[in-house]
Amino acid sequence: MSSNKRPASDLSGRARQNQIYTDGVFGRKPKVPTNFDDLERAAKRKMSAKAWAYVAGGAGEGSTMRANRRALDSWAIVPRMLRDVSVRSLSTELFGQQLPAPILFSPVGAGGLVFPQADVHIGRAAAELGVPYIFSSQASAPMESTAAAMDEVSPGAPRWYQLYWSSDEQLVDSFLLRAEKCGAAAIVVTLDTTMLGWRPQDLNLGSLPFAQGMGIDQYTSDPRFIDMVRARIAAAVPGPKPQVTVGAIKSLVSMAKNTPGSVLANLRSPVPRESVQTFLETYSRPSLNWTDIAGLRERTSLPIVLKGILHPDDARQAVDAGLDGILVSNHGGRQIDGSIGSVEALTDVVAAVDGKAKVLLDSGIRGGADVFKALALGADAVCIGRPHMYGLALAGSAGARDVVANIIAELDLTLGLSGNTNTADLSPAVLKKVRLD
Ligand code: FNR
Ligand code: LAC
Repeated sequence: MSSNKRPASDLSGRARQNQIYTDGVFGRKPKVPTNFDDLERAAKRKMSAKAWAYVAGGAGEGSTMRANRRALDSWAIVPRMLRDVSVRSLSTELFGQQLPAPILFSPVGAGGLVFPQADVHIGRAAAELGVPYIFSSQASAPMESTAAAMDEVSPGAPRWYQLYWSSDEQLVDSFLLRAEKCGAAAIVVTLDTTMLGWRPQDLNLGSLPFAQGMGIDQYTSDPRFIDMVRARIAAAVPGPKPQVTVGAIKSLVSMAKNTPGSVLANLRSPVPRESVQTFLETYSRPSLNWTDIAGLRERTSLPIVLKGILHPDDARQAVDAGLDGILVSNHGGRQIDGSIGSVEALTDVVAAVDGKAKVLLDSGIRGGADVFKALALGADAVCIGRPHMYGLALAGSAGARDVVANIIAELDLTLGLSGNTNTADLSPAVLKKVRLD
């Protein structure tokens, strides 16, 4: 292709295969491996130990990540033949936006560990595909920069905003307002991370990106947050001088680099350090409850999606509260060890919601066949987390784009090859539950 932009009409499986095989004739290999295992291995080689621990890591012994895969593997696709699958459709509508495929980029924080200004590049990737990017509250670029980069590729390219509910309510309002101004089509409130889970990979390295000033760009670019930091500095009582160690100096440099303004000026200023402290003290809010969620309706006009629902009763309560969507997710197994696999939870949630809200799913989705299964079990759309981060690690924006383009291509081929023509028509009848050893 001459242009780097990929029009939505090119998302079919055959177009993607043709492009890759045609490039192959000229001796060019795909930018990113087209299967997850090789993608993950290649990305691991490219990433720093801390970036790898943070992105690939999970809670405890990792059993929830395995449960996500087992839940998917416990369903098998039963293909049907001779059904004229020459014309197929993946397109779907979500909250008034027509999407080329029922796929979104999950919100992923601290991407700066993997690639500078990660979110700007992921935003471009999503805009090239025409699929939504859910901006994280823990992004490595202000939402305005990511939105502008997406608009450059394709004005109004779909985007949503994921909210971590700060303990400062004015900051919550400020985030909501900024998200609306950035053209977000929905607010995704993440419920499962009012505290970070027990993550041995990060703990063993003593590594928390936010403590290094990474992944707090939505905050340091926010007028309310800047006021909070100023007030903190003004109220500061001088304490004992911190110990000077190589680690402490490295951390100060990292904070200075990740704070708006010149690095040199930041090194002399208390702002970077105090921004990190302010963030750590106000992230997030373990007291969050259904009353807060009910109140959110008054605070934004955007559709609200609850992320992290796994119990059908919670799904029912969300529907009763008039919410617009549910994202069935265990946060990619990063929060609770020994949790239910997200696809295992899906069927009961779909039944409880009974068509009254949109149901999305993430956690453990690695290829197009996984997406197919989740849709067949009742999801309206599916979000992709780590895979696009691995693409980003390997080839920046084009890598993130190609990983998701590959998943869409495989979804399209799986749809047709199993005798189906429209993702919207899939039902559990295309699957069979199988016993795993
Ligand atoms: C996440 N996730 C996440 N979710 C969220 O709501 N806000 C966030 O800031 C983040 N940050 C984040 C960072 C990293 C490195 C990862 C891997 C994940 C969770 C994410 O949105 C999604 O739920 C999972 O990534 C889905 O699982 P898979 O696809 O990674 O298995
Ligand atoms: C994480 C948080 C930021 O999973 O969502 O690391």
